[in-house]
Amino acid sequence: MDNKVRIVEVGARDGLQNEAARVPAPVKIELIERLAAAGLPVIEATSFVSPKWVPQMADAADVLAGLRRKPGVGYPVLVPNQRGLEQARGAGADFVAVFTAASDAFNRKNINCDIAASLVRIRPVIEQAKAAGLAMRGYVSCALGCPYQGAVAVADVVRVAAALAQMGCEEISLGDTIGLGTPIQARAMLRAVAEAVPMQHIAVHFHDTRGQALANIYACLEEGVRSVDASVAGLGGCPYARGASGNVATEDLVYLLQGLGLETGVDLDALVETGRWISNKLGREPASKLGRVKV
Ligand code: HMG
Ligand code: MG
Repeated sequence: MDNKVRIVEVGARDGLQNEAARVPAPVKIELIERLAAAGLPVIEATSFVSPKWVPQMADAADVLAGLRRKPGVGYPVLVPNQRGLEQARGAGADFVAVFTAASDAFNRKNINCDIAASLVRIRPVIEQAKAAGLAMRGYVSCALGCPYQGAVAVADVVRVAAALAQMGCEEISLGDTIGLGTPIQARAMLRAVAEAVPMQHIAVHFHDTRGQALANIYACLEEGVRSVDASVAGLGGCPYARGASGNVATEDLVYLLQGLGLETGVDLDALVETGRWISNKLGREPASKLGRVKV
């Protein structure tokens, strides 16, 4: 089994999209640059969504344009539609992420359409991004339950993940958007998806709302997943997912992976320092366990 794990850092997007106070673009840029310096290989930088829906990301073009990119690091940006793709490309994006959910009810709240319509909307985005040579990733939210619909059938997660993969997404990130899942469910869901999408094209994305994220990740690592989304200082959550809290904290994830002998390329001290730095900017303690350890 491969002993390298790729961490996809989503704090600057999934984290900061949910902050009540507006974070200035220079702070976002410094956060992303610090994360790159700490060795994160993929850092989701921002999202080109409607500023009417998510005002926190209204500065997407400024963030992307102002970023000093570290060679070898991927900087995906979230795009909801063709307009978002055009704006992202105009701002210099070379890696984009599309997103939908395995729940019609959640999609209606988050992107104002159901699953079927979202896939119709996404298809030309993927086609154009691929034609332009951009790297592509796709998210499936509510993979272990929905704040509006309740239980989500594994078959729906498989169907949506397979559709995104078939359209051309190189990686499908399975999101437990409001942190409902537990390890046995996470394992079963992942196994089912892996029958339709090869494991090397799957990532897992856990929010830690109920404290299950690391346990779920451990179960998924045992199944063979080697790409894991995380958010520095445990920032975040989707503003349209009632009850969502932050993602698993990247610091705590790196600590777990080190303990398992899995390589991440991340400098844990620099990461913890970055988590404390951004938490300080936001006026609170880090939500990561490691960030609160007193030495
Ligand atoms: P809509 O209202 O149905 O669409 O929104 P619309 O086309 O009528 O657009 C509404 C307004 O936004 C219009 O402006 C458009 O021009 C503008 P107006 O004419 O009224 O002045 N607009 C845009 N502006 C900038 N960039 C764009 C764009 N598109 C339209 N790309 C839409 C549909 C999808 C646009 C909207 O619902 C939206 O932006 N939703 C995004 C919500 C979001 O960002 N949620 C968080 C990310 S998902 C997440 O966090 C989950 C994840 O982490 C995984 C997990 O945890 O599960 C990924
Ligand atoms: Mg998320």
